[in-house]
Amino acid sequence: MRRRRYYTIIRRTLAPCRADYAIIRVMGKLHLGVLGSGAGSNMQSIVDAIAEGSLDADIRIVLADVPDAKILERAKRHGIPCQYLNCAPWKTKLEGPAEDRCIEILKEAGVDTVVLAGFMRIVKPKLLAAFPNRVLNIHPALLPAFPGVHSWKQALDYGCKVAGVTVHFVDAGTDSGPIIVQKAVPVLEDDTPETLHARIQVQEHIAFPEALNIIASGKYSIEGRRVRIG
Ligand code: GRF
Repeated sequence: MRRRRYYTIIRRTLAPCRADYAIIRVMGKLHLGVLGSGAGSNMQSIVDAIAEGSLDADIRIVLADVPDAKILERAKRHGIPCQYLNCAPWKTKLEGPAEDRCIEILKEAGVDTVVLAGFMRIVKPKLLAAFPNRVLNIHPALLPAFPGVHSWKQALDYGCKVAGVTVHFVDAGTDSGPIIVQKAVPVLEDDTPETLHARIQVQEHIAFPEALNIIASGKYSIEGRRVRIG
């Protein structure tokens, strides 16, 4: 009897704490920093998801490593702070002073989650360490198949019947981090690289907001390579 009363008191004492904890995790508005090199259609899908209220986030800053990248125009159109990040002398990676500057800009902007939305450079451990488990990438293939560039063309040339898209956490490798969301896209008989890529992009624009929603919910854990959701 005494024992049961003791446990009831413990339960009542802990319950409010647990509830608060759950609320904090669920109400995890994301402060995003987007890095891109191209058209910015994936950034647009995130902007749209925020605008329609299906993603609890804001985009604090957009950085592009190409001075006239369309992603910068899009950001300006939506009133999102943006700037060109000169990554010279390197062509395929973000390292050295540019990496330092990038981290500084993202931190100053209050970013907690970094989104690589068509960013055509390898990011290095320093950036990953500045945002642990908070750098996400989108890749137009069903990883681990076809990492690297033009993966939709690789899938077509290989003779795949199914292609797709992957959103994953970024680790020190290339397109190799734990997978958050994948979407399959059938390869059609008359597909060209362009038509297949266009249909993959439709799924990209669903997959990225979906993955960010999982992060915002806080209801996931990373166990080795597996991202357990719920
Ligand atoms: C997308 O296909 C993405 O998967 C890849 O680069 C492309 C970027 O497209 N990493 P956008 O700039 O978001 O339109």
